[in-house]
Amino acid sequence: MSKTPKRYLITAALPYANGPVHIGHLAGCYLPADIYVRYLKATGKDVVFICGSDEHGVPITIKAKKEGVTPQQVVDKYDGIMKNAFKDFGIDFTYYGRTSSKTHHETAQAFFKTLYDNRVFKEEITQQYFDTEANQFLADRYITGICPRCGNPNAYGDQCEKCGTSLSPTDLINPKSALSGAVPVLKETKNWFLPMGDIQQSDAFQAYIKRFDGWKSNIKGQCQSWLNDGLQSRAMTRDLDWGVPVPIDGADGKVLYVWFDAPIGYISATKEYFKGSNEWEKYWMDEDTALIHFIGKDNIVFHAIIFPMMLMTHGNYILPTNVPANEFLNLEGDKISTSRNWAVWLHEYLIDFPNRQDELRYVLTSIAPETKDSEFTWKDFQTRVNSELVSIFGNFVNRVLVLCDKYYGGLVPQVNTPINDEKLVASRKLCFESITNSLQAMVEDLDAVKLRDAQAEFINAARAGNKYLADTEPWKLVKTDEEVVKAILFDALQICAKLSIAAEPFLPNTAAKLKAMLNAHNLQWNSLFNETLINSGHQLNKAEILYKQVEDTEIQPQLDRLHRIKTENETGTKQNEPNQASENRETANHHPVKPDITYDDFDKIDLRVGKVLEAERVPKADKLLKLTVDLGFEKRTILSGIAEYYQPEELVGKLVTVVANLAPRKIRGIESQGMLLMAGNDFGKLYSVSAEKDIEPGSVVK
Ligand code: 2FM
Ligand code: ZN
Repeated sequence: MSKTPKRYLITAALPYANGPVHIGHLAGCYLPADIYVRYLKATGKDVVFICGSDEHGVPITIKAKKEGVTPQQVVDKYDGIMKNAFKDFGIDFTYYGRTSSKTHHETAQAFFKTLYDNRVFKEEITQQYFDTEANQFLADRYITGICPRCGNPNAYGDQCEKCGTSLSPTDLINPKSALSGAVPVLKETKNWFLPMGDIQQSDAFQAYIKRFDGWKSNIKGQCQSWLNDGLQSRAMTRDLDWGVPVPIDGADGKVLYVWFDAPIGYISATKEYFKGSNEWEKYWMDEDTALIHFIGKDNIVFHAIIFPMMLMTHGNYILPTNVPANEFLNLEGDKISTSRNWAVWLHEYLIDFPNRQDELRYVLTSIAPETKDSEFTWKDFQTRVNSELVSIFGNFVNRVLVLCDKYYGGLVPQVNTPINDEKLVASRKLCFESITNSLQAMVEDLDAVKLRDAQAEFINAARAGNKYLADTEPWKLVKTDEEVVKAILFDALQICAKLSIAAEPFLPNTAAKLKAMLNAHNLQWNSLFNETLINSGHQLNKAEILYKQVEDTEIQPQLDRLHRIKTENETGTKQNEPNQASENRETANHHPVKPDITYDDFDKIDLRVGKVLEAERVPKADKLLKLTVDLGFEKRTILSGIAEYYQPEELVGKLVTVVANLAPRKIRGIESQGMLLMAGNDFGKLYSVSAEKDIEPGSVVK
């Protein structure tokens, strides 16, 4: 491939559609892939970002069995849940496919057929484990046993997840059926094998593995160790009834090995994206494409060795340029585990921390397991959000915008006199040099897919901006030298503009919010190193808080939940299947419906239309507004926790829905005589009835 690729094809491992998405998934490959893709797009590169649901394989059928439903029902359910979770966290796939799609089945079958016709496979009759109770061959995860390499007692028939070794069922010590627990027997069956040992010797493969030199050492090391051990043939077909049927005669009742069909999912999803045109071929067959697979470490052998072998023996296809695999993320001192419910589920996080996706993105990137396993703890989450996002980045931006609003009515000031005080000049020089250095280092790290370092450089740039304000104290200087304050705030606004550009790959929601506050949606990556990004006289928008503090009271319930789960796991007092519990709580980001009430219960609530007459902040209560609401027959004082979402002045004149017969309650020494109805998962938005303008205050709502 030429040095500068003409285009990029980025893939993120197709997750099995058998459960919701947790922070380990996000940190493992989806977030890094998304950051890298956003960076490439910001710099104007031609990028296609592919993912999709992996809907075949034993993980799906095992889940279906457990839930007493069909495999199709399992994948239909989780495909939607996973897609939504990725969308909620801004993972910006160009296309998200499914391996149950017609295009995928056809593509995978055609691929297999080509290899078959090219006489790549070895057809072999071998002895495979069979469960006589379940009357079924035990492929892959249907069989467990002791890993011959590391002694893990729960290794699967295809892989040990502890040491990453790829296995065959017959490698396992003391194998047992995952279906019935029975000791399996051996039975003859015919399958088609990829002769990996032979392919390893081929010139094409030997040329390909030279690429490993430029890859991360953890991947290079793993691959090298497999190659040194010598690769074994591996069956590409299975005696199962769920999967892509093997498209040749004499293969009835057999399906493609899930690890044969899943990576082809990247190809079929690309095809689907280009809707029948041949455009997809450019991305898969032109050597000027950089093909980059983002994966977790348990997927290395499949992406770095087996799939490339498939691609090269098929012919026509390019081979991976890089496979940036991450290690694992642990949670509060333990391995993340779906079956033990030891996880932070994305959909649950969003219920407890609404609209705070960027905070999680930030923390997961700060601790990304790029070179070794790392750990998420709630305390660390709180510390990083509060001391980095809130105190450095958020604080800097807020100070700049609030001061510009206060001093210049939100106009970018005109600099009439350049700064010449020696100390100020030195501060300014230090600040801009440091920001330029950090942003340059950030770009280099992004190019090298060192995303954790890249984000650290981003926050260093914000830190330098914050220091500039702390050193120069424009809020004090304004009393003695208004002109120099204009110069400082002009500088600070340029820094905000740079940060709004640089934040995009890591913190897309924040970047958009900051650009909106700067009223500068068009800021582009190519102006990152410009001196002036927004001009004097430009009108800014109102400052909004970028990040809220994470309070102890917010993380404590998370810790309590994990503590409860640990106790349940240890004492065997689990109430529910763990996954089920969390999914029931929220299937698509919604609060569960409360138990039924009778009409009489409902009728006890007196809902009325009210008109807001006055609104003001409550001193020393960040969240509260005190409202005077006209109910037609009387005026009420109502306290409402909406100060973070509404300015008092924007509420005056609004029609709202009021619970009129809620017993009065004293809050902060003020009696609140009712409650406003709110909507939305975060309960931050008023449930307003303003659509019907002719409704009179006092009208009954039923
Ligand atoms: O480990 C997994 O979750 C697999 N479903 C990843 C598949 S990646 C690709 F090959 F599709
Ligand atoms: Zn092992």
